[in-house]
Amino acid sequence: MRAVTMIFLILGMLLVHGTNAELQRFEHPTKADGSLTALVIGDWGRKGQYNQSEVAYQMGVTAEKMDVDLIISTGDNFYPGGLSDVNDPAFDESFTKIYTAPSLQQQWYTVLGNHDYRGDALAQLSPVLRGKDGNWFCMKSYILNTDVAEFFFIDTTPFQDKYFNDPEDEVYDWRGVLPRDKYLSTLLQDLESALKESRAKWKIVVGHHTIKSAGIHGNTQELVQKLLPILEANDVDLYINGHDHCLQHISSSDSPLQFLTSGGGSKAWRGYYDWPNAKEMKFYYDGQGFMTMQIAGGDVDINFYDIFGNILHKWSASKTFFSQI
Ligand SMILES: *[C@@H]1O[C@H](CO)[C@@H](O)[C@H](O)[C@H]1NC(C)=O
Repeated sequence: MRAVTMIFLILGMLLVHGTNAELQRFEHPTKADGSLTALVIGDWGRKGQYNQSEVAYQMGVTAEKMDVDLIISTGDNFYPGGLSDVNDPAFDESFTKIYTAPSLQQQWYTVLGNHDYRGDALAQLSPVLRGKDGNWFCMKSYILNTDVAEFFFIDTTPFQDKYFNDPEDEVYDWRGVLPRDKYLSTLLQDLESALKESRAKWKIVVGHHTIKSAGIHGNTQELVQKLLPILEANDVDLYINGHDHCLQHISSSDSPLQFLTSGGGSKAWRGYYDWPNAKEMKFYYDGQGFMTMQIAGGDVDINFYDIFGNILHKWSASKTFFSQI
């Protein structure tokens, strides 16, 4: 299976060569019955500390039971400041040596978080890392096609104004991002046209930052203004993020879009909660854990797990009349 995935990735890269105005596309095979199971984790790389290892263990158990096909990381892959370069031992210590269960030896599709931008952001995108650990795959923004769903991975860190005039005096690696306005407008245009063209039954957007969240970071206003209208206008089903170190599900009163936070990969328990609309809030857990997503034809099933393997929250949706395209 892994070799097949690798061939898909290489084919994808060859196909997109020369069309750099668009988001690069990759493919991942579904199971023989056409279904796909993904596990989603965020905000994790702490060399096993803050329950990272406990989360990893339970991910392995759950991935085995559910026969997981791929793993999604919502970013903040390496704390506190990303990777220093492609030889940073943190890659091994926080990734390869932590997620060791056989069931987790799948392709990981990852994006960068704000903490990743504090190091050598390009290192995480480098083929050198893919050479060290074939499970690893990271790009700034890209599209992953599968037979049952289309995933749009979006680089959200450059949207947030505060990193560009940071009161904490952090240094960010903006190579490839500047000039910022051009970067953001191109990304939004490319996303919009890819969403419009998409025939996928399930359209799923993945980014690091929150759009809606009751956690300490709250809503990301820049994404509410610039990204959310595009998602709503193009019938995106799920927006999946990390950034707030919690597990969370918010629905909205004015669209079918669901907001899912899986940011419980290591340090959590901020003891913060603020959300005005109790009807929209489906689930909030301040501690560690992860999310699974099973997609089979017209059905999607979401589960949130804690580190003991308890299912804390379940959500399902069905679409029947869209099925024949
Ligand atoms: C690890 O998880 C347990 C169970 O949820 C929790 O009680 C404990 O505080 C967590 N430890 C850390 C460092 O977050």
